[in-house]
Amino acid sequence: MIRKRDIIIKGFSKLLKEEKLKLVAEYFENPGEVVSLLKSFWHTDEHQQKLFDEFSENTITNFYIPYGISPNVIINGRNYLVPMVIEESSVVAAASAAAKFWSQRGGFHAEVVDIQKIGQVHFSWSGKPAVLQALMPAIKKYLIDAAKPITTNMEKRGGGILDIQLVNMTEKLEDYYQLLVTFDTQDSMGANFINSVLEEFGNSLRTFMAEQLQLSLDERQVEIIMAILSNYTPSCLVKTWVECTIDELENVDENLTGAAFAKKFEKAVKIAQIDTYRATTHNKGIYNGIDAVAIATGNDFRAIEAAGHTYAARNGHYESLSRVEVKDNKFRFILEAPLAIGTVGGLTNLHPLAKQSLQLLGNPSAKELMMVAAVMGLANNFSAVKSLTTTGIQAGHMKMHLFNILNHFKASEEEKSAAVAYFKDQKVSFASVGKYIASMRS
Ligand code: MEV
Repeated sequence: MIRKRDIIIKGFSKLLKEEKLKLVAEYFENPGEVVSLLKSFWHTDEHQQKLFDEFSENTITNFYIPYGISPNVIINGRNYLVPMVIEESSVVAAASAAAKFWSQRGGFHAEVVDIQKIGQVHFSWSGKPAVLQALMPAIKKYLIDAAKPITTNMEKRGGGILDIQLVNMTEKLEDYYQLLVTFDTQDSMGANFINSVLEEFGNSLRTFMAEQLQLSLDERQVEIIMAILSNYTPSCLVKTWVECTIDELENVDENLTGAAFAKKFEKAVKIAQIDTYRATTHNKGIYNGIDAVAIATGNDFRAIEAAGHTYAARNGHYESLSRVEVKDNKFRFILEAPLAIGTVGGLTNLHPLAKQSLQLLGNPSAKELMMVAAVMGLANNFSAVKSLTTTGIQAGHMKMHLFNILNHFKASEEEKSAAVAYFKDQKVSFASVGKYIASMRS
């Protein structure tokens, strides 16, 4: 007997949405219920739903993730309400707690170091490197002229191609070269713009070389291997920090003086600088904040994270993206991260909630949004390390997780209110909540 799961489905993408949904539901024991469940997550407004359906492919429903707000985020003197989209309990609470804490100590400081993006045309060529290098000024001009129809609008907005360099990689791979191209994409993340320019560069490079009659027939051949942006953007960099006197850290923890807290916090961050296992978790905490803002504003969080993790390994080993300075009675906590983020293009204005998020942030430029996202990374990192070095992470985390556990036990609203009151001064764990609910119900 052939099992359903062994059948290769043909033409799934060509089916109507309802047909796809029904086909998927047949994989469950209760297809009718599955269809109803998935349909219950459809938007009530048909036009809105169509918009969501068309963001991606083979869409059969929507997947909800909470949209929260972190208030009191003061950045360079300006007060923001920051939208955060994240499924993990504690992240918004941690960010909000850090924002409130630092709002009483001068707020967050932030600056954009640079906004350059990078793309590459990878190609093979079998001639002498010096010959290609000598042709570079002419190649550059030819490629830039050829890409004009694509770059003109971006140039009007103040961006465009910044530079094209030839990189000789033949020592690592036979005949392998790159055109390393730098871009300014202004307020857009710029992926489509960059990739279009690079593909045009690839085609034009082939044409240019084919026309160099002084070269041998072999030397006139260029094989374009691929043309694509790099998600590693070490020159699209933002820096954010908080600072206060050591005295202002008194009372952070009832068992530690301000100086002892600063020292312990510094040590925890130093551990993340030297130990890869800890660094990964430490940086994950940073991306809890950054990703939540990236998603809320319709940005590509995978690209942002990929760049951040590569940047964290730039010194030859993977390390913390944040660092601490404690000197002259001052505590300074700093985060530096690449952050290719946009406020125009992509989903930023198409997704109704991303658009709303940008409005809530005051329709920021890409540079301003880089600062906001980085600040939320630092805020989450501060809260996490503060908890880890004082109360431990579970006390706060499990309190925030309480509703998830209660929902697991299908607690009623009355049971939830009673549980919230009861667990105010009790240790939350899956077992303790289960026991409490069972005792209430018996
Ligand atoms: C959990 O999502 C993030 C933390 O593990 C970060 C950290 O350990 O620094 C709490």
